[in-house]
Amino acid sequence: MSLTQVAQRAIDAFAMVFETPPQGAVQAPGRVNLIGEHTDYNDGWVLPCAIDRGTVIAVRKRTDRRVRVVAVDYGLEQDAFDLDAPVVRQDSQPWSHYIRGMAQQMVLGGHVVSGLDMAVSGNIPRGAGLSSSASLEVAVGKAFQFCGLLHPPGKTDLARMAQRAENVFVGCQCGIMDQLASACGQRNRALLIDCRSLEITPVELPRSASILIAHSMVHRGLVDSQYNARRKACEVAAKEMGVSALRDVTMSDLRRVGLDDLTFRRARHVITENDRTLAAARILGASGSGAAHAEDDESRLRALGILMQQSHASMRDDFEITVPAIDELAHIVNQTLDGVGGARMTGGGFGGCVVALVPTDSLDDVRAAISRGYRSPAGEHANVFVCSAEAGAGVLHSASDMPSGSNARSPKH
Ligand code: GLA
Repeated sequence: MSLTQVAQRAIDAFAMVFETPPQGAVQAPGRVNLIGEHTDYNDGWVLPCAIDRGTVIAVRKRTDRRVRVVAVDYGLEQDAFDLDAPVVRQDSQPWSHYIRGMAQQMVLGGHVVSGLDMAVSGNIPRGAGLSSSASLEVAVGKAFQFCGLLHPPGKTDLARMAQRAENVFVGCQCGIMDQLASACGQRNRALLIDCRSLEITPVELPRSASILIAHSMVHRGLVDSQYNARRKACEVAAKEMGVSALRDVTMSDLRRVGLDDLTFRRARHVITENDRTLAAARILGASGSGAAHAEDDESRLRALGILMQQSHASMRDDFEITVPAIDELAHIVNQTLDGVGGARMTGGGFGGCVVALVPTDSLDDVRAAISRGYRSPAGEHANVFVCSAEAGAGVLHSASDMPSGSNARSPKH
């Protein structure tokens, strides 16, 4: 289902459940990370792009302090809470954590003067490493912003707020990459993000290449997985080395300190992954990096392919966040590409998706190879799709251009 169809679903559901049309609809995209995994919370570099899948929220401001939500993709389940009472978790409805978490952040930040009604829908596969949760958090922030309830509305502030909601309310100690990519994405660009300064350098992808995503159908849960344990190991390594974050050390620094084997390998992944991410951005021509514009697409794709394969190996062997099915999927794609482009697991790990940079005229070959060669442990085919790099969160419709077809009636509160 396209994002336009998702929006129509959200708008229709809003009108049906709340018996009044929404005032508008906002969207926030998911993201795919091309390279730079588990580097964000080490103050390092990442290279994601926002994608053409996301979360849409149809919204109307209320006059009281109540928030009502309908989850279109969860059988129209509903949640409601009051902004004057402490915002607490509703454990029977885990989808509501992201919404309540954002509302709590906004109350804490002194932003919210009134409540709103929201109908939420999306088309990002959940638990796939494509940031469905960050997209939902950022969309909630945008919905409040659309209603004039969130100040200041800076994109970076919004991303930080969404990250805090995830850290504090949801309980995942994630970094800033997903929320920042969702808030700040640019059409046809990947974003080199310095996760310490939060400076963003947009880079253009090779024109003859496509971004292919293959979902292994192995689902993961960030909180349940070992994500927080990996973060802890990195903090231990940084502390042992006397720095605030692993961004500040090199491989020779690491070799000089006597870390145990496991902590050494965790740190090695982060240090080498930072190097690979910066190298990838240089190949793509990030400004000030000695741009490689003169090189043709094929040689750039070859160089990027090597970095992506190395990144996957490092996640598999040093950081130990891949699973055999994902290794197999990445292997099938890399073998088919034969060096022109490359594939690696993307996202937090323990399942989810492989991302590949593929020469557009090789897409059919790659699709055929995956369809022939890959089955998930449960016997499923991979879910394969091509995505485009898109702009970050924004307003899809305001009252004046609301699509027709919604069973809109006169406002009723
Ligand atoms: C998840 C987190 C991000 C990042 C990635 C791994 O997506 O939300 O902050 O750490 O994992 O790169």
